[in-house]
Amino acid sequence: MIPAALDATDPRDPLGLLDLFGAPFVQDPYPWLDRLRSESPVHHDPGTGLWLVSRYADVRHVLMHPDTFLPDNAQNAVTPLPVPVLRILVRAGFTLPPALANNGSPSHPGLRRLVTRFFNAGRVAAAVPVIERIADELLQPVLSGLDSTGDGDLASFAQTLPCRVLMELLGVRGIDPDTLIRWSDASLELFWGRPALERQRELAVLVADFHRWLTETVRGGSAPADSFIGALARHRLPDGSLLDVETAVGMCFFVFIAGQSTTGQLIATVLSRALAEPGMWPRVAGEAGLAEAWVEEVLRREPPVTTWRRVTARATEVSGVHLPAGAELLLMLMGSGSDPEVFPAPERMCPHRENIRHHLAFGVGRHRCPGASLARTEAAVALRTAARHLPRVRQAAGSSETPLLGLLSFRAPLRVAVEQNTTTDV
Ligand code: HEM
Repeated sequence: MIPAALDATDPRDPLGLLDLFGAPFVQDPYPWLDRLRSESPVHHDPGTGLWLVSRYADVRHVLMHPDTFLPDNAQNAVTPLPVPVLRILVRAGFTLPPALANNGSPSHPGLRRLVTRFFNAGRVAAAVPVIERIADELLQPVLSGLDSTGDGDLASFAQTLPCRVLMELLGVRGIDPDTLIRWSDASLELFWGRPALERQRELAVLVADFHRWLTETVRGGSAPADSFIGALARHRLPDGSLLDVETAVGMCFFVFIAGQSTTGQLIATVLSRALAEPGMWPRVAGEAGLAEAWVEEVLRREPPVTTWRRVTARATEVSGVHLPAGAELLLMLMGSGSDPEVFPAPERMCPHRENIRHHLAFGVGRHRCPGASLARTEAAVALRTAARHLPRVRQAAGSSETPLLGLLSFRAPLRVAVEQNTTTDV
């Protein structure tokens, strides 16, 4: 039996009932994460076979020691892919060679530099007018809908903005953003979800299409020299050889997914938390720096990437718990942001928190997210622009029932329903 919510006084062992994909955990993970941190900080989860690491200090320690805690399993399918599903992927030539997040080999630093060049602080600052322009454009249909029906949904705005921005920054042309979003979301669900066989098949078809398109684009040789794909084609590995097509496609696969879905999820959470917080919506529109600080608090308390994986290279210990070689760890990034040892009163959204940027939502160390600056900027621009364009909206009634994306490592509201606020005190 799965409890409706975690009851801390339950004499049974509630952690034994933890289901990382179940509605109780997805809807309200905080009591579970609190209990994990205080009672079983390195906890073996029989449902997934993963060791859940939940204290801030332990998560940080693991990320800072990538030679002991390898990144090799970061992109493995958490739900095994049966033969008929694998066949669909194999037919499209799908492989996931070590490239970025799953690469602990000597090729990683060079490949990572290639990505960071496209998303460094200068490029992100220069992209702000582009982000604002796209945000303005994407809000127009929401505005018209509100005028005609009095209600609307900001979910599509949240998802489409990062996809369009990424396409501009990477120089990607000739593909509809909705298709890229569908492919990217399907990849997340196939590799980080618990889909049934029929659903796995449907998802594999989409992932195979995505992979075929990436392979054709990389092979085609028509990408401009200054685009991301053009840079991949010129990249030399440490032994002087050119990058193979499989790895180049693997790089694109990860960057396209990481660069849009996660940021879209962050924006959806940022908007819905700001709409739910009394008085916040009008303030973020005008108060300098508040949108940025709000984004930071959301990253700490309710990050879109809730967990990340590592695997032990050798037998080791974390918080006194022995881990054999090959133990697969699930770092509870979301739990680490609510660790009271680091963030006093973690349940309070506090945009003036002293150590506001100390959270681990983007990881830390050798694999720290190179898109952090872009994601932060996009989310702050999205929030400010939406609050300015839609000053008279409020969260729609019934929003507490909003369905959530609940994958092993990704969590966000699937709708951001708003309605016109007709009262005068806005
Ligand atoms: C809110 C949005 C995002 C979140 C929460 C996020 C989070 C993360 C996390 C947790 C990691 C793993 C860190 C580790 O293994 O130590 C990661 C890696 C990565 N992220 Fe992000 N990310 C976001 C947006 C982006 C964007 C916008 C891009 C690209 C434009 C991006 C590109 C990458 C890449 C390439 C890696 C692998 C880096 C490496 O292995 O060296 N991410 N991200």
